[in-house]
Amino acid sequence: MRHSERLDRLPPYLFAELERKIAEKKAQGIDVISLGIGDPDLPTPQAVVDALAEAARDPGTHQYPSNRGRPEFREAVAGFYRERFGVELDPDTEIVPALGAKECVFNLNLAFLDPASVALAADPGYPVYTGGPLLSGAESVLMPLVPELGFVPDLDAIAPRDAARARLMYLNYPNNPTGAVVPEGFFERVVEFAREHDILVVHDASYTETTFDGYVAPSFLETPGAKDVGVEVFSLSKGWNMTGWRAAAIVGNAQAVDSYWRLKTNIDSGMFDAVQLAAARALTDAAGFPREMSAVYARRRDLVCDALREIGVQVTAPKGTIYVWAPVPEGHTSASYCELVLEESAVVVSPGGAYGPNGEGFFRISLTIADERLGEAVERLRSSLGG
Ligand SMILES: Cc1ncc(COP(=O)(O)O)c(C=O)c1O
Repeated sequence: MRHSERLDRLPPYLFAELERKIAEKKAQGIDVISLGIGDPDLPTPQAVVDALAEAARDPGTHQYPSNRGRPEFREAVAGFYRERFGVELDPDTEIVPALGAKECVFNLNLAFLDPASVALAADPGYPVYTGGPLLSGAESVLMPLVPELGFVPDLDAIAPRDAARARLMYLNYPNNPTGAVVPEGFFERVVEFAREHDILVVHDASYTETTFDGYVAPSFLETPGAKDVGVEVFSLSKGWNMTGWRAAAIVGNAQAVDSYWRLKTNIDSGMFDAVQLAAARALTDAAGFPREMSAVYARRRDLVCDALREIGVQVTAPKGTIYVWAPVPEGHTSASYCELVLEESAVVVSPGGAYGPNGEGFFRISLTIADERLGEAVERLRSSLGG
């Protein structure tokens, strides 16, 4: 059997060694606590579960859905964008459902990239921004995110040759993995850059609803001119505890939304109608739910940041996302520090290098674990690495 060369182009799986060590510890009967994955631990709002059950009982939802999406779903997305962001969207041409932000981001590469073209991808960043271009037979060009610039790319540092062959630019604020939020004026500069170089901006809005300390995250589409050059991928996964449901939407530039739709009609058969109806309920009746969850994550964030400071880690508390991003103490690499934490505390944290070369020197803690377990993990960090 011979698999495609395209698969060989993927980088090695950077969590492999960590996973081997975790398995080894578990085999020894050690209670390992994982703060590695960003997958909300609390349930989906009851109103959304009820809407799914109700819709699933209706045989009218049991056939192939349309890739354009049900009017109820598209109108709910448009209503949410109007209320929450003050952004007007045409439900007929500017909104299409996606089976999660991951599917959408991946397929945009197939819809927009040719072999000689590139996608500009944040480094560190969500791995699909680089894996997607590779699997599409194209390439990504990394845009470093560094603390000195507030974890936004320096657009002036993008080489003219890369800007000329770029068709896509991936951005994501509030940002995974750094927890950074977008600085004032940055999206405006992005619109200008995209216009100048004819690039489609893809703003991954997976975390706009999870923010703290009174901060309210904007949509990229609030920026004047954004709809001329960009789309936003809005996911219900994190805000509404719906990672298992695969519910998201691509919204914005009608031509880009149409290209995505045309590609998708050849790949999948759309989102289960009952899930679309339940997602519509989330965006209407449960529109305030992410605020309640944000209060939970803010409390957990404080618990983690206090403990990290006590063990000598210089951490900045994030204003959004479900992650804490912190520099590893001097003398360590990301991998060696994560191994030390596992060895000494039986707690799993993610090595920053797994998110790109500029993630090296950092580690990421996910806040999606029950309060008691998080409390236990924090106690272990304090007692084993504290002094
Ligand atoms: C930045 C970012 N985009 C997309 C996703 C995937 O979201 P979805 O569940 O909507 O596919 C994640 C999940 O961790 C993420 O961090």
